[in-house]
Amino acid sequence: MAMDRSRPCTDDSQQPEHRLISIRQAAWPSSLTAASVLALLLAGCHRDHPQSVLHPASAASAHIAWLWWVLFGVCTAVFAAVILLLAIAIRPRADQTTGDSPLGHKFIVVCGIVLPAFILFGLLVVTLQAQVALEMPPTEVTIRVTGHMWWWEVEYPEHGIITANEIHIPVGQPVRVELMAADVIHSLWVPNLQGKMDLLPDKTNVTWLAAERPGVFRGQCAEYCGVQHALMGLIVVALPREAFAQWIADRQQPPEVAETELIRRGREVFFESTCHNCHSIAGSEAVGIRGPDLTHLASRQTIGAGLLPNNRGNLSGWISNPQALKPGNLMPYTHIDSEDFHALIAYLESLK
Ligand code: CUA
Repeated sequence: MAMDRSRPCTDDSQQPEHRLISIRQAAWPSSLTAASVLALLLAGCHRDHPQSVLHPASAASAHIAWLWWVLFGVCTAVFAAVILLLAIAIRPRADQTTGDSPLGHKFIVVCGIVLPAFILFGLLVVTLQAQVALEMPPTEVTIRVTGHMWWWEVEYPEHGIITANEIHIPVGQPVRVELMAADVIHSLWVPNLQGKMDLLPDKTNVTWLAAERPGVFRGQCAEYCGVQHALMGLIVVALPREAFAQWIADRQQPPEVAETELIRRGREVFFESTCHNCHSIAGSEAVGIRGPDLTHLASRQTIGAGLLPNNRGNLSGWISNPQALKPGNLMPYTHIDSEDFHALIAYLESLK
């Protein structure tokens, strides 16, 4: 539509009251942003946060947290001192003559060379101390973790157990964790328990995990590995020793699937829909290795690598359209009619 050039151009926004409204409108989103940022920061202060470097649940993460606070304190003090000196340097003065500082060259040498060298050496010492504290202690259990785009394969080679996206460890007993990648580089990071360690396609890296108290701690892939990197999560469940031993014993058995008509049909649907080409279920003919092992799927807390709580609704949503929840993952859409779908979900929910 052509512009009406006969009308005088009146820019209302130039009127004082309109300018005021514009300024208020501009201020509103920025205060909203500030409030959101503050809310996010305060959310991180929650006492029992399951994924926080500042809420250590192991000796290793306590050292890392301590190092973080030392660096934060020293850097804040240095920053404040520099700003203070800057304010003094640029303050308006009656005497504008230039020349040597009354403090002389000694000030430059002390504050510009000696003090920074002293601070950096101190930080080097505390960093090396933390490095020593992160040395792997003697371990009794070995866990092998393989990173895939975008989920975690978890194996207990000494116990013959394969699972996915959940690591169970005994409280108070460090475990050795061997890390590999099946495709690209990933990085295992469980902030409450340990620092980061990369998973490489051509080399085995080794780290260790320990927890001083029972709990569920969230981990996250910490190396960009593709579009769903942010949704490559996992949980570490720290169990008291007896409960851990029981967990191992339970996982060494195939799932006890109830023999109802619905579950029997669900098992048939699982194989008819070719799910077994990618997934394994111990005690059945399903031996696929491209996707996560489903042997004790129903006893896991999450699905989709920490994406959603494991319940009937989320499991149904995931299977009916995996690409909607995690676009780019390898699981395809499979058409299953509603009665068969109901049976399939019943079968998967019986894998305890
Ligand atoms: Cu795997 Cu990022």
